[in-house]
Order: sequence, then C-alpha cells, then structure tokens
Amino acid sequence: MPLAHPSHPQDGPRENVSVNPVFTREPVTIPRGRLPEGELDHETAYQVVHDELMLDGNARLNLATFVTTWMEPTARDLMAECFDKNMIDKDEYPRTADLEQRCVKMLADLWHAEDAVGCSTTGSSEACMLAGLALKRRWQHRRRAAGLSTDRPNLVMGINVQVCWEKFANYWDVEARLVPMDGDRFHLTAEEAVKYCDENTIGVVAILGSTFDGSYEPVAEICAALDRLHAERGWDIPVHVDGASGAMIAPFCDPDLDWDFRLPRVASINTSGHKYGLVYPGVGWIVWRDAEALPEDLVFRVNYLGGEMPTFALNFSRPGSQVVAQYYNFLRLGRAGYTRVQQYCREVAVSLAERIAALGPFRLLTDGRQLPVFAFTLAEGETGYSVFDVSAALREQGWLVPAYTFPAHREDLAVLRIVVRNGFSHDLADLLVDALERVLPRLRNQDKPQHGKESASFSHGAGERG
Ligand SMILES: Cc1ncc(COP(=O)(O)O)c(C=O)c1O
Repeated sequence: MPLAHPSHPQDGPRENVSVNPVFTREPVTIPRGRLPEGELDHETAYQVVHDELMLDGNARLNLATFVTTWMEPTARDLMAECFDKNMIDKDEYPRTADLEQRCVKMLADLWHAEDAVGCSTTGSSEACMLAGLALKRRWQHRRRAAGLSTDRPNLVMGINVQVCWEKFANYWDVEARLVPMDGDRFHLTAEEAVKYCDENTIGVVAILGSTFDGSYEPVAEICAALDRLHAERGWDIPVHVDGASGAMIAPFCDPDLDWDFRLPRVASINTSGHKYGLVYPGVGWIVWRDAEALPEDLVFRVNYLGGEMPTFALNFSRPGSQVVAQYYNFLRLGRAGYTRVQQYCREVAVSLAERIAALGPFRLLTDGRQLPVFAFTLAEGETGYSVFDVSAALREQGWLVPAYTFPAHREDLAVLRIVVRNGFSHDLADLLVDALERVLPRLRNQDKPQHGKESASFSHGAGERG
C-alpha cells in the first residue's frame, strides 16, 4: 500500500478515517481534514467515498427539495458525454452554445415573448441576481437621465421570497422592502405591493409560486395595480416573475393563467431548469422580454476564448452537461410530455394533501392545486407534540419532510411542507401515509402515561421499525 502517512490509532478517530477495505488488502487510515501524503488505489478511494455517502438521505424520499432527483438513463449518458465541456468556451463548443440559445428561445415562446433575450445560469439564485441587476441598472439610467438621485434604490416583494432575493438586496445595496404576512395572507397581494412602492422602487418581484406553501402570487393583479400607480403617480415600475418552480408548471397545467410576458409590465422571468425543468442540478434560466429590458452596459464581451462572446453571468466556468440535458428533455418530452409529468405531480399532490387532511390531526394551508407542493400544520386541539416531532419521526422511517416556522408576523405558525416531484408516485404517497399513520399514535400519546395496553402497542411499533 503506497500510503506514506501514519496509520496508528493514536491519530484519533475524529481526525482520521479508518478504512478496512472489503477487498483483500491491508487496512489503511486516511486523514480527514488534511491532504494525504501518499496515493490510494482507485478502488479503495472509491469505496471510502461511496461508503461515506451511504449515510446521506435517500434523494427520492427527500420531500424537502424542489430539485430533480431522477432522470432517465439516456439523459445521464448525454450528461456524462459533456462533463468535460466548459459552457463558457462558446467558440470551442459552438454546438453546446447553440443548444443553450435554442432552450432560451423555447422558454421565451412558452412564456409568450417574441423578441426575448436570455441565458442559462447555475440556478434560479444566479438568474434572480441577474434579473435584479438589470432592474437596478434600468432604474439608474432613467433616474440619471432625469437628473434625479440614484442613492436609495428599493425592491418590493413579499416576505415569503426565497433567500436569494435578500442576498441580492444585501450584495448589491438595494433596500429589500419585504411585505409581511398578515393573518391568513401568506404571500404578496396587489394591494399591499403598491403601498410599498415609491419613485425609488426598481421593481416588484412576484413569485410563482411561493417557496413557503406552493401558492401562486397574483401576478396579473399586481401588474394591473402597478398600471394604475403609473397612471396616478408617474412611477413606471417593472415586474420580475420568480418562476423558479411555477414557470415550468403553469404553462402546462394552467395555460389560461395570465402571469408571463402576455402582461406588458412583466420585464423578466427566471426558472430553475433543475426543478420542474426536470434536469439534475444545477441549471437555471433567465429571460428578458426584449433587449431593452437588459441594459447593454451589463453585458461583457470577451475575446480571449476566440471569437467575441457576450456574457452576462456571475461566474465564468460551468459544465455544459445540464444545458445539454435541458435541451434533451425539451426534445424528449415536448409540450405533451411536460404536461403529462406536471399534471401527474399535481394529481399526486392534491390526493396526498386530501388524505393527510383526512387523517385528523392536520390542517392544510395549501392543497397542491397550484405548485404540486403543500404545507400543513397541526389542527386546533393537537397538543403535546409539534410539527418538528412529526418531521423527526418520519425521518426515522427514511422520509425527509421539513418542518419550519413562517416569517415575521406569523412566526407562531409552524408547518410541514411536501414537494411532489417527478418520480414521486401514488404508490410512494401511499407509503408516506402509512408511515404517518404509524408514527401519529405514538406522538399523540407521548404526554400521556405509557402503561398496560398502550405501552405494548408502542413497543410493537418500535419493533416493527427496527
Ligand atoms: C421561488 C424561488 N426562487 C428562487 C429559488 C432559488 O433557486 P435555486 O435553488 O435554483 O438557486 C428557489 C428555490 O427553492 C425558489 O423556490
């Protein structure tokens, strides 16, 4: 074994990984936080990493994430063929670059834009940063042209925005005007949005749909209220739609819903290719209505890769695999395929939400009829345990269902949320309901004395799990 570092137990179990390969080799010890001095053969190195990863949760049972956890083998093959292509080398890999532009055109068409411009990103977070920067720069240009101050830009959005928007505001010195929740209003409404706008508002973010509960924000109503504000006060405030999930759900499941470039006030839309675009992480998309919505002075032109390439991105190098996989999915599924997949997710979400509501101890906040995502809390009168206990008990059975509290003004509300994705079938939903039915009696009785019959049935349940 060519390892030239100490393998004595005195190195301590925390600092070192003791490996006893299942192959017929000498046991070795590998430092955890220090580059090993020597080399390992590839089979042992693979086994070490593989074994560590076994302790991660099972991605398919992860109902916390919006991100794709299953792709078909042919898509994986294509991705592997492109691992070595850097997306930024557009002159060297012109076909990959062309596929990216075809995807932008397909999305623009899906979202009813005619002269759109756009690009791929690492995910919706980067896409939102780019969209926010374009809003800020357009506002600066308008203000400077009118001889007005550009000192205090602000962005109006519901407090339910995903953290990427708070990051945007923090990193680029924009005041985040977060409209709080109120009672049973868990997202931005038109009425509230306009109250927070003024001459320094660079834009309003409308979310399709909310990360907290899967609900769609009323984009058309927000746009109409901003049209009225424009007429009354002269402030022409554009809207960005954060369609991280919903921009790949609504076109297929709610084709008559007006939320996209059909609304003239919508300047830009982002989505995560790696959410309901059905690609493994990480790919996102940002599309502007037209070239005017993306100020030219944000676009860099570099010539050191050969040719002159326009770029608007936060990072430079990035794998081509995800963009290629996105194009593959678009070809493979088409409108019919995406409609079938997203509709199935919605059916599973709606039916699972109904069954969870019927169990008794829960109250639904949303029911999966917008994003195939729903949030639920404990029903009135359920005491002695919390949604966090439910989450922990489900985790013991392998299910990852997150529990969290809502933001300002509704911190009192703690919920569980289930995200239904491609690959989560009615069968798996049945198994999840079985798991809930198994854990609930124990949780609901835990503040009561455990003896006699009750304790016998409890230990039976525990034994079953073991
Ligand atoms: C509404 C919304 N916007 C933005 C994001 C960030 O997306 P990404 O993980 O693709 O960066 C998310 C992620 O959940 C989201 O739900």
